[in-house]
Amino acid sequence: MADYKKRLKKNVPGNFYVDKTCINCDACRQLAPKVFSEDSGFSYVYKQPKDELNERQALEALLACPTHSIGALKTNLKARNVMHDFPLWIADNVFYLGFHSDKSFGASSYFIEDPQGNWMIDSPRYQKFLCQQIREKGGLKYIFLTHQDDIADAEKYAREFGAQRILHKYDANKNHNVEILIQHSRAFFFTKDFLIIPTPGHTKGHCVLLYKNKFLFSGDHLWWSRRTHSLGASKQVCWYSWEKQLESLKKLLEYRFTYVLPGHGRRVNYPNITMHQALEHAIFRLESI
Ligand SMILES: [Fe+2]
Repeated sequence: MADYKKRLKKNVPGNFYVDKTCINCDACRQLAPKVFSEDSGFSYVYKQPKDELNERQALEALLACPTHSIGALKTNLKARNVMHDFPLWIADNVFYLGFHSDKSFGASSYFIEDPQGNWMIDSPRYQKFLCQQIREKGGLKYIFLTHQDDIADAEKYAREFGAQRILHKYDANKNHNVEILIQHSRAFFFTKDFLIIPTPGHTKGHCVLLYKNKFLFSGDHLWWSRRTHSLGASKQVCWYSWEKQLESLKKLLEYRFTYVLPGHGRRVNYPNITMHQALEHAIFRLESI
């Protein structure tokens, strides 16, 4: 629960506020961009919601916040009703799960409702309600972990659904009891439509998942940057090798996709050709830093 006594001074007066425990993960700003903004390493309320849509989005942000740093004094909508918005539909049979975890510094996680068995990509925090929602969609067969940072509560979800966790061997340690260790260093089809592409750089065992040549679940390898308005990656938060990460980014030029769905950073949807050009531009820019 957010603490009103610890609310940030920057919040505009009104029902919604952010307190000092915010870790600046960007989840609330993505969910409710007309309510939350960023200042000095925190999110804050720059405009109180004035209509039902914005209030709904602000409540989604309150529920998704990994550190429970968002509070609401009074709302017209009930948070428990807004909970049913999750998982939030993105496109086709792909969803955003919400309920970020502070164990992964608020990384986004996703869900694919697939006829051959459903997938979770990276883990949200464990939430009974989310389990119900996933169960209604047919449960969970696989949990694909892009890398060691975004594992969060994957073990609890794996136990709940008897799902198999997939992680590259280089990112697994004795504390990660994953069921399927990726041994490959080259891209391979795990099953039809699910291409796993090892992308070492951010971590040694980082992998991305390309679903149906359309959705690229990119973990912390690649994202849309709201600052540069372009595809981006970060040398600053590259834990293994920036040279390898650049090589891995170039490898992605071989593939076609229209969605980039990252752990951290923004999601983006472009037509194939525009996405390819955006990736080329990003690599050109990143090679010079
Ligand atoms: Fe990471």
